[in-house]
Amino acid sequence: MTDRYAVMGNPVAHSKSPLIHAQFARETGQDLIYEALLVEHGRFPQAVRAFFAGGGKGLNITVPFKLEAWALAEQRSEQAELAGAVNVLFLDAEGVLQGHNTDGIGMVRDITQNHGGVLQGKSILILGAGGATRGIVLPLLQQRPAGICIANRTVSKAQELVPLFASHGQVHACGYDDLRGQRFDWVFNATAASLQGELPPLPADLLNPMAWCYDLMYAKEPTIFCRWAQHHGAHRALDGLGMLVEQAAESFWLWRGVRPQTAAVLQMLR
Ligand code: ATR
Repeated sequence: MTDRYAVMGNPVAHSKSPLIHAQFARETGQDLIYEALLVEHGRFPQAVRAFFAGGGKGLNITVPFKLEAWALAEQRSEQAELAGAVNVLFLDAEGVLQGHNTDGIGMVRDITQNHGGVLQGKSILILGAGGATRGIVLPLLQQRPAGICIANRTVSKAQELVPLFASHGQVHACGYDDLRGQRFDWVFNATAASLQGELPPLPADLLNPMAWCYDLMYAKEPTIFCRWAQHHGAHRALDGLGMLVEQAAESFWLWRGVRPQTAAVLQMLR
């Protein structure tokens, strides 16, 4: 029997995950199918149970169900625990529902493996303090940067994140006004502002020479944040397409124990 996998979300029709996993399966010779499943609001737990009861092997979870997936998981990886969100679910050999979060790990792999970026010893600024930020702080700290500053419009939300990660490295919180006079080697855009074509108010001299910028969003055209980065002297301005592909590869590895190559998929999506 061919193993079944799926992504659950709402909306989900736009998801590139079926395409990505089909390519991974072809490339690694794994016998599986992967579909996109639209789940009604309020029906997520039932949908997950029905999927696994029907013999399904693993799920990716996307907007808006990552928090519900976190709550539903019977065991969670440290990364999922700290991210407060789960994007991978599967039953282990004992039938326990395992929850993982591969978003941040995928982003770091994109940076280090696909682009040769270095985070060790660097000063990092993260814009935003929502779910996207929570998912990337631990994987970034595991690269041993000099420190991470989380800047947010609502400063209290950034401050709330600090104690969660304090035992893993240097993290502090601030508002956008406090960025004046500060410079960074890396700036990550994890705000939802770009969805409205907006940017947080950033000082023009925010970037160190040779700084890299990374937008967790991606779009057909360069994102508003990537354009800002290019206009303000960034050495590299990367968008989140590589993160999407690498989180999928991490999911595939968790499920199948095989690590797919990502270059061909990335090229196809570009
Ligand atoms: P996600 O899960 O995508 O991170 P979220 O949890 O709703 O979504 O968080 C959205 C983030 O984008 C928050 O940091 C939010 O700032 P506030 O906490 O102050 O609301 C930020 N954000 C959204 N729109 C923004 C805008 N126009 N300018 C600056 N920050 C914005």
